[in-house]
Amino acid sequence: MCGIIGYIGVKKATPILIDGLLKLEYRGYDSSGISTIEKDCISIMKDTGRVKNLYNLDGINNLNGNIGIAHTRWATHGKPSKENSHPHLDNNNNFSVVHNGIIENYTELRDFLIRNGYTFYSQTDTEVIPNLIDYYYKKETIDDKYRILRALQKTCNDLKGSFAIQVISKFMPDNLIVIRKDSPIVIGKGDNENYVSSDIPAIVSYTKEFYFLNNYELALLSRDNIEFYDINLNSIVKQVNVVDLDADSADKNGFSHYMLKEIFEQPSAIRKTIGSRLSANDSCNFEELNFTKEFLSSINKIYIVACGTAMHAGLTGKVAIEQLCNIPVTVDIASEFRYRNPIIDKNTLCIYISQSGETADTIAALKLSKSKGATTLAISNVIESSITREADYSIYTHAGAEIAVASTKAYTSQVILLNILALYFAEILESISSLETMKLKEEILALPQKVEETLQCTNLVEKYSKEICHEKDIFFLGRGIDYTTALEGSLKLKEISYIHSDAYAAGELKHGPIALIEDNVTVVGIITDESLVEKTISNIQEVVTRGAKTCIITNQSLNNIDFNQVISVPKTCTLLSPIVSIIPLQLLAYYISNEKGLDVDKPRNLAKSVTVE
Ligand code: M6R
Repeated sequence: MCGIIGYIGVKKATPILIDGLLKLEYRGYDSSGISTIEKDCISIMKDTGRVKNLYNLDGINNLNGNIGIAHTRWATHGKPSKENSHPHLDNNNNFSVVHNGIIENYTELRDFLIRNGYTFYSQTDTEVIPNLIDYYYKKETIDDKYRILRALQKTCNDLKGSFAIQVISKFMPDNLIVIRKDSPIVIGKGDNENYVSSDIPAIVSYTKEFYFLNNYELALLSRDNIEFYDINLNSIVKQVNVVDLDADSADKNGFSHYMLKEIFEQPSAIRKTIGSRLSANDSCNFEELNFTKEFLSSINKIYIVACGTAMHAGLTGKVAIEQLCNIPVTVDIASEFRYRNPIIDKNTLCIYISQSGETADTIAALKLSKSKGATTLAISNVIESSITREADYSIYTHAGAEIAVASTKAYTSQVILLNILALYFAEILESISSLETMKLKEEILALPQKVEETLQCTNLVEKYSKEICHEKDIFFLGRGIDYTTALEGSLKLKEISYIHSDAYAAGELKHGPIALIEDNVTVVGIITDESLVEKTISNIQEVVTRGAKTCIITNQSLNNIDFNQVISVPKTCTLLSPIVSIIPLQLLAYYISNEKGLDVDKPRNLAKSVTVE
């Protein structure tokens, strides 16, 4: 989705803005632009296509301003075009604005402005913002430092929807203004310079000190100072947060793509997720939660709500919580949950999973369950993301920045965190024996090593990917926990290789999907749950009989059976097996996409964080 960068300091702003936009490219976009203050007037350069195209725009090298705002746009209102790209100016070229989010009442505001003499040059919702600021600015009678802030305040009071807004103005040529509601934005504090960004990784190479704005908080930045205000323009004090994120987390570190780098980061990401939460001899440790036996015993139902890959992680969490804690768990897709009037009361625990912490449907679902009295717990990878600010409790996966659109290390970290969480609940509830607890802990602690071993299948998977990269359809089958891996493997493949793929619970085959199986169709089977091996094999044999080619991901010895390809993964307990069995499937999707010459990290039509409904 859209990305925002801002800079105010003593250096030339343009290279910093474009560098920041390049780091936000992963979010998905179709056009980009920058605006700087040049000798008290505003310049704007923008176009469709890649951020690097900005370097070719006439005059870009003549921009010398030290203050600027920049944007990558993912089209919502109006097609990708130069006119619709941000920044947007008001009619009098006084204010330049970039905006993330959606202004729901923009038609009404546009009509109002048209009635007041304003003309619109784009189809965007955003263009109402600079014009409203201009409208209110002109109405102000007192010409003090707060004149623009008052105009922005009135503008924001008129806006319905979500927004993170940056404004520069020729009337305040030494300042940059930021305000947000329900869209992410962070402010980085430098030395005689300050930064603004949609996320931390894009500016972490410049600073480790960040401010996070709450809804309707406004920041007035100058080179050497940042003032914060609430929506009534009362001055407020905000604490700076030191964020310890490697600057190279936003680099490829020698890998050809972020996705491959992130697949290979999984052993270390998992180590960080486990962190000090779990050790062989102590009880699981979630300081952020401090749940009591009384509280957990009062919970009679858990919902796990998320989208895409995070929802697939949730499916594995269901199995763990039900098995270890004996509490019924329902997993929901956030966009369905929020509109289906779910049965929720004060004895319901709702767990929301989101790598980015900014997914609009997941946040809306969270707000709904809070309003119905549930206890809410957010699981995210991004510190201070919206979902973690909204939930009653938050825990982090600490997997490190994930840049590729296709989620890999965030998924395995979510699965492991859900298992540790289930174990933490089980220890408090005393719902499993100490022997079972000890065994599961040993298995969790052994996982980073097992993931490293699994990655040794890389060459085999790369070779196999060349055999199947031109397929039209690929099917994934599994039972029990392996069905969750089939779903995630199938999603990974379709999103970056554009091959049609579906995942089915193997036992469902006979109820319809087997009609799709014909000669030479590829079927990927996942077989790791010992108790279901024979059942799944007999389903796979049914597709072999009908001419399918098979690839099996397994931790079993299946020597006597003739599959086209077998990829072995290390044995671990069933609850944790998705963490190892997904790895060959992540690699398969990666190598097929690469073999087809596709944009692995930024697949068409997709955005890394889906901040609009
Ligand atoms: O940031 P989130 O975890 O909330 O994102 C949810 C989905 O949009 C995301 O997992 C998506 O399905 C990925 N592209 C999958 O690889």
